[in-house]
Amino acid sequence: MIICIGAGPGDVAYLTMRGAELIRNADVVAGFNAVVDVVQSLIPESAEVVLMGYRDQVEKLDIVAAAHHAGKRCVVVFMGDIHFSGFQYLERVERACGHAVETLPGISSAQILASRAKVCFDETTFITFHRRGDLEPFKRHLVHVLNDGRNAIVIPCPWDAARSFMPRHIAAYLLQQGVAPDHPTEVWENLTRSEAEWHGTLADCADQEFSDMSIMLIRTRAPMASQIEPTHKEGAWQPG
Ligand SMILES: C[S@@+](CC[C@H](N)C(=O)[O-])C[C@H]1O[C@@H](n2cnc3c(N)ncnc32)[C@H](O)[C@@H]1O
Repeated sequence: MIICIGAGPGDVAYLTMRGAELIRNADVVAGFNAVVDVVQSLIPESAEVVLMGYRDQVEKLDIVAAAHHAGKRCVVVFMGDIHFSGFQYLERVERACGHAVETLPGISSAQILASRAKVCFDETTFITFHRRGDLEPFKRHLVHVLNDGRNAIVIPCPWDAARSFMPRHIAAYLLQQGVAPDHPTEVWENLTRSEAEWHGTLADCADQEFSDMSIMLIRTRAPMASQIEPTHKEGAWQPG
C-alpha cells in the first residue's frame, strides 16, 4: 500500500485527521526533509523514515517503491496540498511504483493565503513557477489572468540564479508585458509559522527581496461587484 498525503503547509495542526491516522499506522514515511519534519511527532518509532532532497529524490523513491511492492504501508508526505505545485513529485512517485497511486489532499499555502488576505477562489487563478520545464506558458497565462480582471495567487521559483523567478522577477516581467503597475500586490512568508506579510503595488514589488518560503497575491484592479441581493437595512455591514 502506498499513499501520497498533503501536510502542512508549515504547521502540523493543518494536517487532516485522515492524514494523521495514515502516518500513525505507516511502516514507511517518506518525503523531503522539511516536510517530514512537520509530521515528525506523528511518526511511530517502528516506522522507517526515508528522507530525500532534490538531488536524490529519484533513488530514494525507488527505495520507497520497493518497500511498497514488498507489502509495507508507505506514506509519502507532500508540502501543503499535492494538487497545487506537487504533481511533478507525484509523477516521480508513480514512475517509481510503476502505477498510479492514491492521494489525500492537504491544506495548501494558497488556501491559507486566501484566508489571510480574504480572496475568493471563484475570482482567482493559481499559478506556480516552482516546477521543472518550460515556464513560458505559465508566464503568459499569468498576464492573461490579470488582463481578464482576476486575482492571481502565485508560487515563485526559488532555485538557482539562472532559473529563479521570485516575486521581484515576476513583477518586473509583468511590468515589461504592459501589466498596470498599480495592481495591489501582497507577499506572505512562512504561513502558519513565523508569518510575515508585505503589501504594496506591483511596481513596488519589483525591488523587494523575499525568502524561498513565500507566496504572492496579485489582486485585480477592478474587483467584481457583489452579486448577492441588495440589502435594505440602513448601515448594513459591507465587505472592505
Ligand atoms: C513545491 S511548492 C509546494 C506548494 C504546496 N503544494 C502547497 O500547496 O502549498 C513549494 C513552495 O510553496 C510555497 N509555500 C509552501 N508553504 C508555504 C508557507 N507556509 N508559506 C508561504 N509559502 C509557502 C513556497 O513558495 C514554497 O517554495
